[in-house]
Amino acid sequence: MPRLRSETPACAEVTHFNHAGDSPSPRAVLDVVEGHLEREALIGGYEAEDEAGERIEAVYAAIGRLINAAPDEIAIVENATRAWDMAFYAMPFEAGDRILTSVSEYGSNAIAFLQVAERTGALVEVVPNDEHGQLSLEALAAMLDERVKLVAVSHMPTNGGLVQPAAAIGELVRETGAIFLLDACQTAGQLPLDVDELGCDVLTATSRKYLRGPRGVGFLYVRRSLVEQLIPPFLDIHAATWVSRDRFEIRPDARRFENWESAVAARLGLGRAIDYALDLGIDAIWTLVERRAATLRGLLDETPAVAIHDLGLTKGGIVTFTVAGAPASAVTATLRADRINTSVSSTASTRYDMEARGLTDIVRASVHYLTTDEEIPRLVNGVAAVSTGAR
Ligand SMILES: Cc1ncc(COP(=O)(O)O)c(C=O)c1O
Repeated sequence: MPRLRSETPACAEVTHFNHAGDSPSPRAVLDVVEGHLEREALIGGYEAEDEAGERIEAVYAAIGRLINAAPDEIAIVENATRAWDMAFYAMPFEAGDRILTSVSEYGSNAIAFLQVAERTGALVEVVPNDEHGQLSLEALAAMLDERVKLVAVSHMPTNGGLVQPAAAIGELVRETGAIFLLDACQTAGQLPLDVDELGCDVLTATSRKYLRGPRGVGFLYVRRSLVEQLIPPFLDIHAATWVSRDRFEIRPDARRFENWESAVAARLGLGRAIDYALDLGIDAIWTLVERRAATLRGLLDETPAVAIHDLGLTKGGIVTFTVAGAPASAVTATLRADRINTSVSSTASTRYDMEARGLTDIVRASVHYLTTDEEIPRLVNGVAAVSTGAR
Protein backbone atom coordinates (compact mmCIF):
# COMPACT_ATOMS: atom_id res chain seq x y z
CA MET A 1 0.00 0.00 0.00
CA PRO A 2 2.70 2.62 0.81
CA ARG A 3 4.22 1.87 -2.61
CA LEU A 4 0.89 2.32 -4.37
CA ARG A 5 0.28 5.57 -2.53
CA SER A 6 3.75 6.87 -3.28
CA GLU A 7 3.07 6.10 -6.95
CA THR A 8 0.02 8.39 -6.82
CA PRO A 9 0.88 12.11 -6.65
CA ALA A 10 -2.58 13.04 -5.30
CA CYS A 11 -2.03 10.99 -2.13
CA ALA A 12 0.48 13.58 -0.92
CA GLU A 13 -1.91 16.45 -1.60
CA VAL A 14 -5.46 15.51 -0.62
CA THR A 15 -7.53 13.02 1.34
CA HIS A 16 -9.48 11.67 -1.57
CA PHE A 17 -12.93 10.18 -1.04
CA ASN A 18 -14.15 10.89 -4.56
CA HIS A 19 -12.92 7.83 -6.43
CA ALA A 20 -16.44 7.35 -7.81
CA GLY A 21 -16.10 10.81 -9.37
CA ASP A 22 -12.54 10.62 -10.58
CA SER A 23 -9.81 8.50 -9.05
CA PRO A 24 -6.41 10.18 -9.42
CA SER A 25 -4.05 8.35 -11.75
CA PRO A 26 -0.82 6.67 -10.74
CA ARG A 27 2.43 8.12 -12.07
CA ALA A 28 2.68 5.26 -14.58
CA VAL A 29 -0.50 6.48 -16.29
CA LEU A 30 0.62 10.12 -16.21
CA ASP A 31 3.91 9.12 -17.81
CA VAL A 32 2.15 7.39 -20.69
CA VAL A 33 -0.23 10.32 -21.30
CA GLU A 34 2.48 12.96 -20.99
CA GLY A 35 4.86 10.87 -23.06
CA HIS A 36 2.44 10.69 -25.95
CA LEU A 37 1.56 14.40 -25.78
CA GLU A 38 5.29 15.09 -25.91
CA ARG A 39 5.67 12.92 -29.03
CA GLU A 40 2.73 14.71 -30.66
CA ALA A 41 4.39 18.04 -29.93
CA LEU A 42 7.74 16.82 -31.24
CA ILE A 43 6.94 14.85 -34.38
CA GLY A 44 3.28 15.63 -35.18
CA GLY A 45 0.03 14.11 -33.98
CA TYR A 46 -0.58 11.76 -36.92
CA GLU A 47 3.02 10.60 -36.94
CA ALA A 48 2.95 10.00 -33.18
CA GLU A 49 -0.23 7.96 -33.63
CA ASP A 50 1.45 5.83 -36.30
CA GLU A 51 4.43 5.33 -34.03
CA ALA A 52 2.12 4.19 -31.20
CA GLY A 53 0.09 1.91 -33.49
CA GLU A 54 0.85 -1.36 -31.69
CA ARG A 55 0.38 0.20 -28.27
CA ILE A 56 -3.00 1.61 -29.33
CA GLU A 57 -4.09 -1.86 -30.50
CA ALA A 58 -2.92 -3.26 -27.17
CA VAL A 59 -5.47 -1.07 -25.37
CA TYR A 60 -8.30 -3.08 -26.97
CA ALA A 61 -6.63 -6.29 -25.81
CA ALA A 62 -6.28 -4.86 -22.28
CA ILE A 63 -9.99 -3.98 -22.17
CA GLY A 64 -10.68 -7.48 -23.48
CA ARG A 65 -8.70 -8.99 -20.59
CA LEU A 66 -10.50 -6.79 -18.09
CA ILE A 67 -14.00 -7.93 -19.12
CA ASN A 68 -13.29 -11.23 -20.92
CA ALA A 69 -14.11 -10.01 -24.42
CA ALA A 70 -12.39 -10.01 -27.81
CA PRO A 71 -10.80 -6.83 -29.21
CA ASP A 72 -13.25 -6.70 -32.13
CA GLU A 73 -16.14 -6.42 -29.65
CA ILE A 74 -14.76 -3.19 -28.17
CA ALA A 75 -15.07 0.48 -29.11
CA ILE A 76 -13.13 3.22 -27.36
CA VAL A 77 -15.11 6.46 -27.10
CA GLU A 78 -15.18 9.67 -25.08
CA ASN A 79 -16.88 8.49 -21.89
CA ALA A 80 -19.34 5.99 -20.47
CA THR A 81 -22.40 8.00 -21.46
CA ARG A 82 -21.35 8.22 -25.09
CA ALA A 83 -20.55 4.49 -25.07
CA TRP A 84 -24.01 3.76 -23.66
CA ASP A 85 -25.71 6.17 -26.09
CA MET A 86 -24.00 4.74 -29.16
CA ALA A 87 -25.41 1.30 -28.37
CA PHE A 88 -28.79 2.42 -27.05
CA TYR A 89 -29.63 4.83 -29.89
CA ALA A 90 -28.69 2.08 -32.36
CA MET A 91 -31.48 -0.16 -31.07
CA PRO A 92 -34.54 -0.18 -33.32
CA PHE A 93 -37.45 0.44 -30.94
CA GLU A 94 -41.05 0.49 -32.13
CA ALA A 95 -44.32 1.55 -30.54
CA GLY A 96 -45.24 -0.85 -27.75
CA ASP A 97 -41.70 -2.21 -27.27
CA ARG A 98 -40.86 -2.38 -23.59
CA ILE A 99 -37.62 -1.12 -21.99
CA LEU A 100 -37.05 -2.40 -18.44
CA THR A 101 -34.68 -0.62 -16.11
CA SER A 102 -33.68 -0.43 -12.47
CA VAL A 103 -34.86 1.96 -9.77
CA SER A 104 -31.29 3.21 -9.37
CA GLU A 105 -30.73 3.95 -13.06
CA TYR A 106 -28.40 6.81 -13.96
CA GLY A 107 -29.96 10.13 -15.03
CA SER A 108 -28.41 10.30 -18.51
CA ASN A 109 -29.71 6.81 -19.30
CA ALA A 110 -33.19 7.72 -18.07
CA ILE A 111 -33.18 10.87 -20.23
CA ALA A 112 -32.30 8.74 -23.27
CA PHE A 113 -35.15 6.33 -22.47
CA LEU A 114 -37.58 9.24 -22.31
CA GLN A 115 -36.36 10.71 -25.58
CA VAL A 116 -36.62 7.40 -27.43
CA ALA A 117 -40.00 6.66 -25.86
CA GLU A 118 -41.22 10.06 -27.07
CA ARG A 119 -39.93 9.41 -30.58
CA THR A 120 -40.99 5.80 -31.02
CA GLY A 121 -43.79 4.99 -28.60
CA ALA A 122 -41.63 2.47 -26.73
CA LEU A 123 -42.54 2.07 -23.05
CA VAL A 124 -40.15 2.58 -20.15
CA GLU A 125 -40.85 0.49 -17.06
CA VAL A 126 -38.94 0.44 -13.80
CA VAL A 127 -38.45 -2.99 -12.21
CA PRO A 128 -39.19 -2.63 -8.48
CA ASN A 129 -36.60 -3.33 -5.81
CA ASP A 130 -36.71 -6.29 -3.44
CA GLU A 131 -36.56 -6.00 0.34
CA HIS A 132 -32.79 -5.42 0.20
CA GLY A 133 -33.11 -2.42 -2.13
CA GLN A 134 -31.70 -4.20 -5.17
CA LEU A 135 -33.54 -5.07 -8.37
CA SER A 136 -36.14 -7.74 -7.61
CA LEU A 137 -35.37 -10.83 -9.68
CA GLU A 138 -38.86 -12.11 -9.01
CA ALA A 139 -40.41 -8.92 -10.35
CA LEU A 140 -38.10 -8.96 -13.37
CA ALA A 141 -39.01 -12.57 -14.17
CA ALA A 142 -42.68 -11.65 -14.01
CA MET A 143 -42.23 -8.58 -16.25
CA LEU A 144 -40.20 -10.24 -19.00
CA ASP A 145 -42.18 -11.11 -22.14
CA GLU A 146 -41.64 -11.03 -25.90
CA ARG A 147 -42.33 -7.27 -26.04
CA VAL A 148 -39.34 -6.53 -23.81
CA LYS A 149 -36.55 -5.44 -26.17
CA LEU A 150 -34.07 -4.13 -23.64
CA VAL A 151 -33.16 -4.59 -19.99
CA ALA A 152 -30.78 -1.78 -18.99
CA VAL A 153 -29.29 -1.71 -15.50
CA SER A 154 -26.61 0.29 -13.72
CA HIS A 155 -24.35 -2.29 -12.07
CA MET A 156 -23.58 0.14 -9.23
CA PRO A 157 -25.49 3.41 -9.10
CA THR A 158 -23.87 6.80 -8.87
CA ASN A 159 -25.61 7.38 -5.50
CA GLY A 160 -24.67 4.36 -3.40
CA GLY A 161 -22.68 1.19 -2.86
CA LEU A 162 -25.42 -1.16 -4.12
CA VAL A 163 -24.07 -3.90 -6.39
CA GLN A 164 -26.94 -5.15 -8.51
CA PRO A 165 -27.23 -8.94 -8.96
CA ALA A 166 -26.11 -8.56 -12.57
CA ALA A 167 -25.31 -12.21 -13.34
CA ALA A 168 -28.72 -13.31 -12.08
CA ILE A 169 -30.35 -10.57 -14.18
CA GLY A 170 -28.33 -11.76 -17.18
CA GLU A 171 -29.50 -15.32 -16.66
CA LEU A 172 -33.14 -14.26 -16.73
CA VAL A 173 -32.72 -12.00 -19.76
CA ARG A 174 -30.81 -14.66 -21.70
CA GLU A 175 -33.94 -16.83 -21.76
CA THR A 176 -35.73 -14.09 -23.73
CA GLY A 177 -34.90 -12.26 -26.97
CA ALA A 178 -34.13 -9.02 -25.12
CA ILE A 179 -30.77 -7.25 -25.01
CA PHE A 180 -29.11 -6.88 -21.59
CA LEU A 181 -27.19 -3.58 -21.35
CA LEU A 182 -25.05 -3.24 -18.24
CA ASP A 183 -23.79 0.20 -17.23
CA ALA A 184 -20.55 -0.78 -15.49
CA CYS A 185 -19.32 2.79 -15.16
CA GLN A 186 -18.83 2.49 -11.40
CA THR A 187 -17.76 -1.16 -11.26
CA ALA A 188 -15.04 -1.29 -13.94
CA GLY A 189 -11.77 -1.41 -12.01
CA GLN A 190 -13.59 -1.95 -8.72
CA LEU A 191 -14.81 -5.55 -9.00
CA PRO A 192 -14.39 -8.47 -11.40
CA LEU A 193 -16.30 -8.17 -14.69
CA ASP A 194 -16.74 -11.10 -17.07
CA VAL A 195 -19.27 -10.45 -19.83
CA ASP A 196 -19.98 -14.17 -20.20
CA GLU A 197 -20.63 -14.68 -16.50
CA LEU A 198 -22.68 -11.50 -16.36
CA GLY A 199 -24.63 -12.56 -19.43
CA CYS A 200 -24.67 -9.00 -20.77
CA ASP A 201 -24.81 -8.17 -24.48
CA VAL A 202 -23.60 -4.62 -24.06
CA LEU A 203 -21.37 -3.16 -21.33
CA THR A 204 -20.23 0.41 -20.89
CA ALA A 205 -17.53 1.94 -18.71
CA THR A 206 -15.36 4.97 -18.18
CA SER A 207 -11.63 5.40 -17.65
CA ARG A 208 -11.42 8.02 -14.91
CA LYS A 209 -13.31 6.35 -12.04
CA TYR A 210 -12.25 3.07 -10.41
CA LEU A 211 -9.85 2.27 -13.27
CA ARG A 212 -7.87 5.42 -12.41
CA GLY A 213 -7.24 6.32 -16.05
CA PRO A 214 -7.39 9.78 -17.64
CA ARG A 215 -10.59 11.76 -18.15
CA GLY A 216 -12.32 12.02 -21.51
CA VAL A 217 -12.22 8.37 -22.52
CA GLY A 218 -14.41 5.33 -21.97
CA PHE A 219 -15.35 2.12 -23.73
CA LEU A 220 -18.21 0.08 -25.10
CA TYR A 221 -18.45 -3.69 -25.38
CA VAL A 222 -20.97 -5.22 -27.78
CA ARG A 223 -21.30 -8.99 -28.09
CA ARG A 224 -20.06 -10.07 -31.52
CA SER A 225 -23.39 -11.63 -32.52
CA LEU A 226 -25.10 -8.28 -31.92
CA VAL A 227 -22.60 -5.84 -33.44
CA GLU A 228 -23.83 -5.98 -37.03
CA GLN A 229 -27.47 -5.69 -35.94
CA LEU A 230 -26.81 -2.31 -34.33
CA ILE A 231 -26.55 0.59 -36.76
CA PRO A 232 -24.81 3.48 -34.97
CA PRO A 233 -26.85 6.69 -34.71
CA PHE A 234 -24.08 8.53 -36.56
CA LEU A 235 -21.19 7.47 -38.71
CA ASP A 236 -17.96 8.94 -39.99
CA ILE A 237 -15.10 7.82 -42.24
CA HIS A 238 -13.72 5.61 -39.46
CA ALA A 239 -17.02 3.91 -38.61
CA ALA A 240 -17.90 3.46 -42.28
CA THR A 241 -16.25 3.65 -45.71
CA TRP A 242 -17.56 5.81 -48.56
CA VAL A 243 -17.15 3.09 -51.18
CA SER A 244 -18.81 4.78 -54.15
CA ARG A 245 -20.53 8.08 -54.87
CA ASP A 246 -23.88 6.96 -53.47
CA ARG A 247 -22.92 4.11 -51.14
CA PHE A 248 -21.16 3.52 -47.83
CA GLU A 249 -20.32 0.39 -45.88
CA ILE A 250 -20.33 0.24 -42.11
CA ARG A 251 -17.39 -1.60 -40.61
CA PRO A 252 -18.23 -5.03 -39.25
CA ASP A 253 -16.60 -4.73 -35.82
CA ALA A 254 -17.47 -2.71 -32.72
CA ARG A 255 -15.30 0.18 -33.89
CA ARG A 256 -18.34 1.23 -35.95
CA PHE A 257 -19.32 3.03 -32.71
CA GLU A 258 -16.11 5.09 -32.61
CA ASN A 259 -15.06 8.46 -34.02
CA TRP A 260 -12.18 8.99 -36.39
CA GLU A 261 -10.72 11.69 -34.19
CA SER A 262 -9.86 10.83 -30.61
CA ALA A 263 -7.56 11.70 -27.73
CA VAL A 264 -4.80 9.21 -28.42
CA ALA A 265 -2.89 10.06 -25.25
CA ALA A 266 -5.99 9.39 -23.17
CA ARG A 267 -6.57 6.05 -24.91
CA LEU A 268 -3.01 5.00 -24.17
CA GLY A 269 -3.44 6.17 -20.58
CA LEU A 270 -6.57 4.05 -20.25
CA GLY A 271 -4.63 1.02 -21.46
CA ARG A 272 -1.89 1.64 -18.91
CA ALA A 273 -4.46 2.11 -16.14
CA ILE A 274 -6.07 -1.23 -17.01
CA ASP A 275 -2.70 -3.00 -17.01
CA TYR A 276 -1.97 -1.41 -13.62
CA ALA A 277 -5.27 -2.67 -12.20
CA LEU A 278 -4.83 -6.13 -13.70
CA ASP A 279 -1.32 -6.34 -12.25
CA LEU A 280 -2.74 -5.61 -8.79
CA GLY A 281 -5.51 -8.11 -9.41
CA ILE A 282 -9.17 -7.11 -9.61
CA ASP A 283 -10.14 -9.67 -6.95
CA ALA A 284 -7.61 -8.17 -4.55
CA ILE A 285 -8.83 -4.64 -5.36
CA TRP A 286 -12.44 -5.66 -4.69
CA THR A 287 -11.56 -7.25 -1.34
CA LEU A 288 -9.86 -4.03 -0.21
CA VAL A 289 -12.58 -1.73 -1.52
CA GLU A 290 -15.35 -3.73 0.16
CA ARG A 291 -13.42 -3.79 3.44
CA ARG A 292 -12.57 -0.07 3.42
CA ALA A 293 -16.15 0.87 2.62
CA ALA A 294 -17.48 -1.37 5.40
CA THR A 295 -15.08 0.28 7.87
CA LEU A 296 -16.23 3.72 6.81
CA ARG A 297 -19.92 2.77 7.08
CA GLY A 298 -19.28 1.31 10.53
CA LEU A 299 -17.69 4.52 11.83
CA LEU A 300 -20.27 6.80 10.20
CA ASP A 301 -22.97 4.67 11.72
CA GLU A 302 -21.63 5.51 15.18
CA THR A 303 -21.56 9.25 14.41
CA PRO A 304 -24.49 11.20 15.86
CA ALA A 305 -26.95 12.71 13.35
CA VAL A 306 -25.51 10.73 10.44
CA ALA A 307 -27.77 8.45 8.37
CA ILE A 308 -26.27 6.06 5.83
CA HIS A 309 -28.17 5.43 2.61
CA ASP A 310 -26.48 2.52 0.82
CA LEU A 311 -28.74 -0.30 -0.30
CA GLY A 312 -28.29 -3.91 -1.36
CA LEU A 313 -26.95 -7.21 -0.13
CA THR A 314 -23.50 -6.59 -1.58
CA LYS A 315 -22.07 -3.11 -1.12
CA GLY A 316 -19.01 -1.62 -2.79
CA GLY A 317 -16.87 1.47 -2.52
CA ILE A 318 -19.53 4.19 -2.68
CA VAL A 319 -20.71 5.31 0.75
CA THR A 320 -23.59 7.79 0.90
CA PHE A 321 -25.01 9.58 3.90
CA THR A 322 -26.75 12.68 5.20
CA VAL A 323 -26.13 14.73 8.31
CA ALA A 324 -29.28 15.91 10.07
CA GLY A 325 -29.49 19.70 9.96
CA ALA A 326 -26.63 20.16 7.48
CA PRO A 327 -27.17 20.29 3.71
CA ALA A 328 -24.94 17.89 1.76
CA SER A 329 -23.26 20.80 -0.02
CA ALA A 330 -22.29 22.33 3.35
CA VAL A 331 -20.79 19.01 4.49
CA THR A 332 -18.70 18.62 1.34
CA ALA A 333 -17.63 22.29 1.44
CA THR A 334 -16.47 22.00 5.05
CA LEU A 335 -14.57 18.82 4.28
CA ARG A 336 -13.06 20.37 1.14
CA ALA A 337 -11.70 23.24 3.25
CA ASP A 338 -9.70 20.55 5.06
CA ARG A 339 -8.56 19.06 1.74
CA ILE A 340 -10.91 16.11 2.12
CA ASN A 341 -12.63 15.41 -1.20
CA THR A 342 -16.19 14.09 -1.26
CA SER A 343 -19.10 14.90 -3.55
CA VAL A 344 -22.85 15.45 -3.56
CA SER A 345 -25.30 13.15 -5.30
CA SER A 346 -28.53 14.93 -6.24
CA THR A 347 -32.07 13.89 -7.16
CA ALA A 348 -31.67 14.35 -10.92
CA SER A 349 -28.77 11.86 -11.09
CA THR A 350 -30.96 8.95 -9.92
CA ARG A 351 -34.47 10.39 -9.73
CA TYR A 352 -36.48 7.14 -9.54
CA ASP A 353 -34.53 6.08 -6.46
CA MET A 354 -34.11 9.44 -4.71
CA GLU A 355 -37.81 10.28 -5.02
CA ALA A 356 -38.86 6.84 -3.81
CA ARG A 357 -36.72 7.28 -0.70
CA GLY A 358 -37.60 10.92 -0.14
CA LEU A 359 -33.96 11.96 -0.55
CA THR A 360 -32.72 15.12 -2.23
CA ASP A 361 -28.99 15.74 -1.85
CA ILE A 362 -26.74 13.18 -0.17
CA VAL A 363 -23.01 13.18 0.53
CA ARG A 364 -21.01 10.62 -1.43
CA ALA A 365 -17.69 9.46 0.04
CA SER A 366 -16.12 6.82 -2.17
CA VAL A 367 -13.12 4.72 -1.13
CA HIS A 368 -10.57 2.80 -3.19
CA TYR A 369 -7.78 0.39 -2.34
CA LEU A 370 -5.60 3.46 -1.79
CA THR A 371 -7.74 4.62 1.13
CA THR A 372 -5.90 4.16 4.43
CA ASP A 373 -6.90 3.43 8.02
CA GLU A 374 -5.82 6.99 8.90
CA GLU A 375 -7.89 8.65 6.21
CA ILE A 376 -11.17 7.06 7.23
CA PRO A 377 -11.22 8.52 10.80
CA ARG A 378 -10.04 11.86 9.37
CA LEU A 379 -13.14 11.96 7.18
CA VAL A 380 -15.43 10.73 9.96
CA ASN A 381 -14.05 13.34 12.40
CA GLY A 382 -14.70 16.02 9.80
CA VAL A 383 -18.28 14.81 9.40
CA ALA A 384 -18.70 14.60 13.20
CA ALA A 385 -17.56 18.23 13.51
CA VAL A 386 -20.21 19.30 10.98
CA SER A 387 -22.85 17.22 12.73
CA THR A 388 -22.00 18.75 16.13
CA GLY A 389 -22.12 22.24 14.61
CA ALA A 390 -25.48 21.47 13.04
CA ARG A 391 -27.08 20.47 16.34
C1 LIG B 1 -23.79 4.67 -12.95
C2 LIG B 1 -23.19 5.68 -13.88
N1 LIG B 1 -23.39 5.58 -15.19
C3 LIG B 1 -22.88 6.45 -16.08
C4 LIG B 1 -22.12 7.51 -15.65
C5 LIG B 1 -21.61 8.48 -16.67
O1 LIG B 1 -20.24 8.32 -16.90
P1 LIG B 1 -19.46 9.37 -17.81
O2 LIG B 1 -19.45 10.65 -17.03
O3 LIG B 1 -18.10 8.79 -18.03
O4 LIG B 1 -20.21 9.54 -19.07
C6 LIG B 1 -21.88 7.69 -14.29
C7 LIG B 1 -21.09 8.85 -13.82
O5 LIG B 1 -21.08 9.20 -12.68
C8 LIG B 1 -22.42 6.74 -13.38
O6 LIG B 1 -22.21 6.86 -12.07
